[in-house]
Amino acid sequence: MRKKIGIGLAGFGVVGRGIYEVLAENSPLIAARAGADFSIQHIVCRHPERAQSLVGSSIPVGDDTCALIENPNVDIVIEVMGGIEPAKSLILGALESGKSVITANKALLALHGNEIFNCAKNFGVNVYYEASVAGGIPIIKALREGLSANRIESIVGIINGTTNYILSAMRESALTFPQALKIAQEKGYAEADPTFDIEGLDAGHKITLLASLAFNTPVCFMPENMEGITQISPEDIAFAQSVGCSIKLLAIAKNLNGQIQCCVHPTLVDNDNFLAHVNGAMNGVFVQTNALGPSFYYGAGAGGKPTASAVIADLIDCARGNAPIQPAPTTEAFYLPPKEIQSQYYLRLTISSSEQLQRVQNYFEGFAIPIEKETLSNQCWMVLTKPIKENTLQSLISKLNQLEDLDKPIKVLRKESMLMGI
Ligand code: HSE
Repeated sequence: MRKKIGIGLAGFGVVGRGIYEVLAENSPLIAARAGADFSIQHIVCRHPERAQSLVGSSIPVGDDTCALIENPNVDIVIEVMGGIEPAKSLILGALESGKSVITANKALLALHGNEIFNCAKNFGVNVYYEASVAGGIPIIKALREGLSANRIESIVGIINGTTNYILSAMRESALTFPQALKIAQEKGYAEADPTFDIEGLDAGHKITLLASLAFNTPVCFMPENMEGITQISPEDIAFAQSVGCSIKLLAIAKNLNGQIQCCVHPTLVDNDNFLAHVNGAMNGVFVQTNALGPSFYYGAGAGGKPTASAVIADLIDCARGNAPIQPAPTTEAFYLPPKEIQSQYYLRLTISSSEQLQRVQNYFEGFAIPIEKETLSNQCWMVLTKPIKENTLQSLISKLNQLEDLDKPIKVLRKESMLMGI
């Protein structure tokens, strides 16, 4: 006889319904792999009447999260409601009641993960969160399990589908940012309030979680290191194309000799790298480690069934007693502040004379900025720096801005070169 495991499901939107459907559709194989029969025993959501009509009267449906925690038939709690409250109280309450939790809530974990992981440890239960990063792509499992023998050196990913859709549409159809955003909203990719996506915060929450897992550090969300795509113009996209690149919103986590760089920003990616070919709403993550070397993960980063795929994989793990490796909230970590963050920069300057070019080049020398590549054509000087700190770049730009005869604004874009080629 297989054991029976009762699920409490908090949230019945696109993802909650996806979980309900995949559990029903794949029931025999899920039960065989888990060695357990799962059944949803309680649902809480914002519109209980709608959910009740879909699941029938045998499952209690309501809006009281305490009732779900206290339901003795609920063994494991799945939280896919999103937001901070009541999700946080629900998760802490479930853990304190000795119930493991599976969540897709990246914002909550990025902001309160240390408290939640500590609580789980204190009560001898687990928090699983595969679905919180890159939807259906098993990137957390890759870091925790497949790559557990490796030292992780860097993670560079496209982990927000909405912004990737917008940037792809801007390039493919020569659209402005507002035009592409409108289409993304009409197609249901972007939320009615798309702030978290377009300002880089959603990708920021996700890379924060990956960094803490990869580098075994406390969860440390630094919104000041997150930048979105609202300022990207068709001119930027054309510039990127002219130097053989695409612009992608990259989430970057690197261990630079013990100093952790964790940031999100629009970045030039050479078209011969895998990440340049992650288009539409898809996600892709590149991981560099010391034993395996480079590896790449690609798939659907959002949507009901892809996210359900990740949630139910966690459910199977939980039923089998596979305790996940948690980040270590007690270890010291040094996260680089914005001005210390390193990047390569592409600058494009309009040059009217050889004297002017000499003056500009003198500034580069004065700030000891190493140049990887430069070209001068049609009065346009394009230069790619080697990795330099953000504050060095800012000092250079403020000096260049003082040159009265130089065309402004000076076009600057970051570039990421440490990627996996096709
Ligand atoms: N808004 C997110 C995205 C959904 O666009 O990727 C999945 O986390």
